[in-house]
Amino acid sequence: MQTQLSLFENDMKTRSDVKVSRSGTFLDNMALPIHRWFRYSAGFAAQWVEQVLAGWGITKEQIVLDPFAGSGTVSVVCDTMGIPSIGVEAHSLVSRILKAKLLWPTPPQHVVEFASKVLKRAQNERPHTTTFPPLLERSYEPKALASLNALKSSWLSLRDESPESELVWLALTAILRSTSTAGTAQWQYILPNKTKKHIIEPFFAFQQQIRIIKADLRWMQARADRSCADIIAGDARAFAGIVSRKVDAVITSPPYANNYDYADALRLEMTFWGDVNGWGDIHHAVRRHLIVSSSQHSSRERLLLEDLLALEAVAPIRSELAQVVHELAAVRENHGGKKHYHTMIAAYCRDISLTLQQLQRVCKPGSRMCWVIGDSAPYGVYCPIERWIAELAIAAGFKNYSFDKLRDRNIKWKNRKHRVPLKEGLLWIEG
Ligand SMILES: C[S@@+](CC[C@H](N)C(=O)[O-])C[C@H]1O[C@@H](n2cnc3c(N)ncnc32)[C@H](O)[C@@H]1O
Repeated sequence: MQTQLSLFENDMKTRSDVKVSRSGTFLDNMALPIHRWFRYSAGFAAQWVEQVLAGWGITKEQIVLDPFAGSGTVSVVCDTMGIPSIGVEAHSLVSRILKAKLLWPTPPQHVVEFASKVLKRAQNERPHTTTFPPLLERSYEPKALASLNALKSSWLSLRDESPESELVWLALTAILRSTSTAGTAQWQYILPNKTKKHIIEPFFAFQQQIRIIKADLRWMQARADRSCADIIAGDARAFAGIVSRKVDAVITSPPYANNYDYADALRLEMTFWGDVNGWGDIHHAVRRHLIVSSSQHSSRERLLLEDLLALEAVAPIRSELAQVVHELAAVRENHGGKKHYHTMIAAYCRDISLTLQQLQRVCKPGSRMCWVIGDSAPYGVYCPIERWIAELAIAAGFKNYSFDKLRDRNIKWKNRKHRVPLKEGLLWIEG
């Protein structure tokens, strides 16, 4: 194990080794500076990323890419190690959060002063009656909602183009869960009907969050003076034209083909900021820009199976894919919900294939990739996703692959219990 592992020593509670089986979870990041500014449950473990980069011997002269950057675990780790990185993220709110994290060179005092102005103005705002979108009404006590709204109006009046303005925006976005009475399901779905008891008063939560940001800015600035991360708020299936630099290594975790709707994950935050007014807006605002990994997505796009199967992108796995998705189409007929899993799986393979083609274009020969990935079994029909990704990678021009299983897992598909064993693991690909 290389010395970079000691990056967080003396500052944070650290473990001497990061369990590889926890590499796919974001939980440990909530103890780490900057990573903890926003809890994005879909993220993976920062210390595991650090281990992989150290193990590969990536240097400060090389470039690391994450085409599904999410909340920026790879970008932030690379900054702590002084390694240039590129992150691509298609969810508008997620990429804004990620960009805000990379503003860590901002002087802490500037953030504190900006936040104090926002807080003071919010505390002095005279109460007035406002109507809020139903999700917000159901997710907060009236007093808490009024305070959050006062913070929002205050930020909107004071905002400018400065990094401190954006960091204060992030602080306010980050407290929306801890101040809400609504429960949060796995991976951040908001559940207004499931109320939780421990909620934090918004003005207090805001000050607490600013204190965390201030401490982390100091921590990071003692180690580095500038961020070397680039972020593309765009599509992993079509970014190669923008990346002129050649990539040495890729660490990523794409959405799994398991019907989890990333577009909906931050509905509370998007509703608060007025980006959407309800579930119906989510597709236009976010989902249509993401790779297809949920049946809502494939049904909204009215995708047709035979069109998808005819695409060049899926040609390398076409015969097996066709067999599986035709079985899914048949099984679907016996299910009341009639979910569009057949087109979801075919479109998912198309999108992963397009992404791999982009990666092939930007990666140097001899580059290395690691994908954290899981297989899936919608309606109990097994889809060997990690093998398909590997075969699509080879077809795109990468050289070798191997797969390390991390853990067994089973996904509870809503409409049917199935007992198909599933797994999650690391797909290593060499270019
Ligand atoms: C498993 S999460 C990655 C989390 C990340 N490793 C982290 O630590 O936060 C997958 C991410 O891929 C993003 N995504 C989905 N479709 C995309 C696309 N076409 N281009 C870029 N990003 C996309 C999702 O919005 C989501 O944030």
